[in-house]
Amino acid sequence: MLWTTSLCLLWASFVLGAPVRKERQKLLLVSFDGFRWDYDRDVDTPNLDQMAKDGVKAQYVTPPYLTITSPAHFTLLTGRYIENHGVIHNMWFNTTTSVKKPYYPTQFVNEWWDNGSLPIWITAQRQGLKAGSVHFPGTASSYQGQVVMNREVEPQLYNYKNETAWQENTDMVMGWFRDQDLDFVSLYFGEPDGVGHRFGPDSPERRDMVKQVDRTVGYIRQSAHRHGLTDRLNIILTADHGMSTVFRNGMVEEIILKKIPGFLFSDLSFHLVDYGPSGMLLPKPGKLEKVYQTLKGAHPHLHVYKKEEMPEHLHFANNDRILPIVLWADPGYVISGYFPVQFNQGEHGYDNLEMDMKPFFRAVGPAFHKNLEVGPFETVNIYPMMCHILGIQPEVNDGHLDATKHMLVTSVTSKGGNINFLKNAFTGLAAVAGFLAVVFIATISLKIIKRKRKNESFRSESFEDVQEKEETKQTSF
Ligand SMILES: *[C@@H]1O[C@H](CO)[C@@H](O)[C@H](O)[C@H]1NC(C)=O
Ligand SMILES: *[C@@H]1O[C@H](CO)[C@@H](O)[C@H](O)[C@H]1NC(C)=O
Ligand SMILES: *[C@@H]1O[C@H](CO)[C@@H](O)[C@H](O)[C@H]1NC(C)=O
Ligand SMILES: [Zn+2]
Repeated sequence: MLWTTSLCLLWASFVLGAPVRKERQKLLLVSFDGFRWDYDRDVDTPNLDQMAKDGVKAQYVTPPYLTITSPAHFTLLTGRYIENHGVIHNMWFNTTTSVKKPYYPTQFVNEWWDNGSLPIWITAQRQGLKAGSVHFPGTASSYQGQVVMNREVEPQLYNYKNETAWQENTDMVMGWFRDQDLDFVSLYFGEPDGVGHRFGPDSPERRDMVKQVDRTVGYIRQSAHRHGLTDRLNIILTADHGMSTVFRNGMVEEIILKKIPGFLFSDLSFHLVDYGPSGMLLPKPGKLEKVYQTLKGAHPHLHVYKKEEMPEHLHFANNDRILPIVLWADPGYVISGYFPVQFNQGEHGYDNLEMDMKPFFRAVGPAFHKNLEVGPFETVNIYPMMCHILGIQPEVNDGHLDATKHMLVTSVTSKGGNINFLKNAFTGLAAVAGFLAVVFIATISLKIIKRKRKNESFRSESFEDVQEKEETKQTSF
């Protein structure tokens, strides 16, 4: 099939009298951790505003649940819901030994990240492209033995808010695109998540940080220009989740599991709480029903679910790593175990339907429409769009190009000249041909059977043919 497709492409380039591939478009995916969709409403953001004029702005996007950093970033890189990619938490844990690793050391636990889904860097590299990543969650790990070609992993105790370092990293990435001809780079900034946690999303500190983000957006575009990349480079800005103000100073009744009548930590063999508004429990054998009944309805702002009863929209159930009981709180609350140990003014990790959890989305470049504002979409849909822009075949994923393609100019081919359009056309033709072949063969076979004639070689050959066509259809966009 591949052979036939190449022949067809060769034929097409010959007949159309044009080279199939000119310059491939490049793509930079930038994440500003915890940049809520409405953070530009109470701050002057001239660079973000200019970018919206020159490109596309979504009203907001919907992150996957659990709305925390590593899981949500891995969804951007794979297009899979968290239950499907397996990076279900920022923390690696072992329920037998009760060992838990915090966010940073978990970046280096390969088995945690490499759980069956390939990030776009590896897919791009396998299809002949060059990829890079700076500080993006998942960068430190290898996937089926491969790592992203150019990578920078931040040191431990990194100062995530240093604007000079942001500019240096931006220039380094633009250098990779220009001098090493990289096709795709993911670039991560740890703010405004940090100030959002520490001071809250409504604080002057958060507004100042949004100004810094805005200056950096201007810097990124200016650096792209300086490196001669404006005509070839697409830039997507988004984030992993939003931020919500936590009720403090005795304003509300806190959620402390120890205080719930009848609840015993000794009924659990493992728990993951004291981590914002979410938690997971593994009851001891025979204790699940007791723990569940004790907690369910115990606090008006605590949601208690058995894994198999989890609401469908969260897509957070179908994975062995998710523990049998899942807890989450309403906005404003966090879940504590024995006593309160969390003092952040802002938190995320809430239900992804909460508006406070929605990140922003902007995009600019030759693949995108100009001055277009679009409605919301789920962040799983960013992955198939990125693959489309890069002209690579996506892995199995939970997104749909249909949800994002209205942001793209009709044919990415027309300017960037990547092979997507032709490939799609021919895959489409092949699918139609395949379908006709199936109908044809079925008819013929029926006739043959009716006539009770034996022709084993013809039938086995046609069966393989049909299988091949089916596979082509399944892997097309
Ligand atoms: C957890 O620890 C136990 C005991 O050391 C070990 O047998 C098991 O493989 C570990 N599980 C994971 C997922 O690391
Ligand atoms: C994913 O991780 C689980 C353990 O957490 C393991 O049992 C499973 O085999 C892994 N799957 C893949 C495809 O790596
Ligand atoms: C900020 O980053 C620059 C460039 O990497 C470095 O020279 C400077 O010391 C850093 N400043 C702080 C306060 O971390
Ligand atoms: Zn985050």
